[in-house]
Amino acid sequence: MSADQAAPGTKQAHTRGLSRRGLLALVGGGAAGAAVGAAGTAAILAAAGGSDERSHQLSYPFYGEHQAGIVTPAQDRMHFAAFDLAEGLSRDELIELLQDWSYAASRLTQGLEISVAGAFGGGAYMPPDDTGEATDISPAGLTVTIGFGRSLFVTAAGDDRFDLASKLPSEFEDLPKMMNDFIDREQSGGDLCVQGCSNDPQVAVHAIRNLTRIAFGRAQLRWSQLGFGRTSSTSTAQNTPRNLFGQKDGTMNLKAEEPDLLDAHVWVGANQGPLWAVGGSYLVARRINMSIEVWDGVQLGEQERVTGRNKKDGAPLSGGTEFSQPDFSAKGEDGALLVDERSHVARVHPDNNEGIRMLRRGYNFVDGNDAQGRLNAGLFFVAFVNAPERFASVHKNMARDDLFVEYLKTTASSVFLVPPGVSDGQYVGQQLFEA
Ligand code: HEM
Repeated sequence: MSADQAAPGTKQAHTRGLSRRGLLALVGGGAAGAAVGAAGTAAILAAAGGSDERSHQLSYPFYGEHQAGIVTPAQDRMHFAAFDLAEGLSRDELIELLQDWSYAASRLTQGLEISVAGAFGGGAYMPPDDTGEATDISPAGLTVTIGFGRSLFVTAAGDDRFDLASKLPSEFEDLPKMMNDFIDREQSGGDLCVQGCSNDPQVAVHAIRNLTRIAFGRAQLRWSQLGFGRTSSTSTAQNTPRNLFGQKDGTMNLKAEEPDLLDAHVWVGANQGPLWAVGGSYLVARRINMSIEVWDGVQLGEQERVTGRNKKDGAPLSGGTEFSQPDFSAKGEDGALLVDERSHVARVHPDNNEGIRMLRRGYNFVDGNDAQGRLNAGLFFVAFVNAPERFASVHKNMARDDLFVEYLKTTASSVFLVPPGVSDGQYVGQQLFEA
């Protein structure tokens, strides 16, 4: 972030600033920050990822038909947070919070500070509005994606706190319990979520930290997760990364360059509704612990059988190259199937799941270690789909007897509805509140 291009008092990137409550939460006031904007070259630069100069200058528009952070080329880092709304919060106060978040996010994603006063412009006698740690290193491809939990519409106890129960889409259900689920409810769910992704970890953390600060008194952090090393490509311009099992991950993912498939599998369509949610998507987040120490003792051939793909280049075991389609009927000289029926790829492939596809956008995590010295590591799995039930049906097929499952333990699970994008001056979720 550097000097602000928009003079105080003129029309900023936004027509409105933070609400009085948002400003009170910051206890500050004042002016700074400069948009860098380089969306045109975004996809190419995103392929580089990492922390070079160019990936730091990258910026994606906050406004648009869909929220950023879904088909946007997956960045290198993630900070994901879920929030519970304060007891007694009114509908108007909830709207105000979403307005404040949208305003702040639209600035942060352009390399500006959260408010015009920013980190240094509020004067020596006020706490700064912006916490300042992203100064000089943002926007770094930051995207801020805001989602709604089912409890926003109606709580588990049936409480319609914000007069939204009638707007709840019938598809919006939490996932059923899967085999090997050991779900910590405190680390799952929430009324609201914010997914912050960036090519710089500090920029992602700065975004979540400052949005949490703005929400003070209105929403409280329920759980959060840091992620590093994207485990998917969401653009054909990106290389396929590797996950903590050392596998190429994201090969067959849906990509930004496949709009028809995104319409069919990711975006809530006009035929599904409700109208306010059209162009949105369901975000499924699963915190999957991976027994990496056990995996590391498994022979390479077995690791490949479990996955159904060659570990070095990611090609299916039925032959070809990384992007070849697996042939599930191909057999070797011994008459055995080349791609095991219980391999991960066989279990989750669309051919074996009524054609269902999803856009995966997960990140690796390592959160310290246990008393035995094993890393608390895994995949913070994120997928975008147009109905949670479609995701659940693929997952059930996997959880049933996928060879992979022996090495995995899911400890948190959440579903959020990410509303469609909005245009400049609007706030995320406006379609819902005005429906
Ligand atoms: C730690 C857990 C997981 C790991 C390490 C993992 C790893 C992989 C790998 C290596 C591939 C092959 C490359 C690719 O096409 O991306 C893959 C594919 C895939 N995975 Fe997973 N995965 C995990 C969990 C899940 C879960 C929970 C689901 C959802 C049910 C899922 C759905 C898929 C799908 C849909 C594909 C593409 C299949 C295809 O079209 O060929 N994965 N995964």
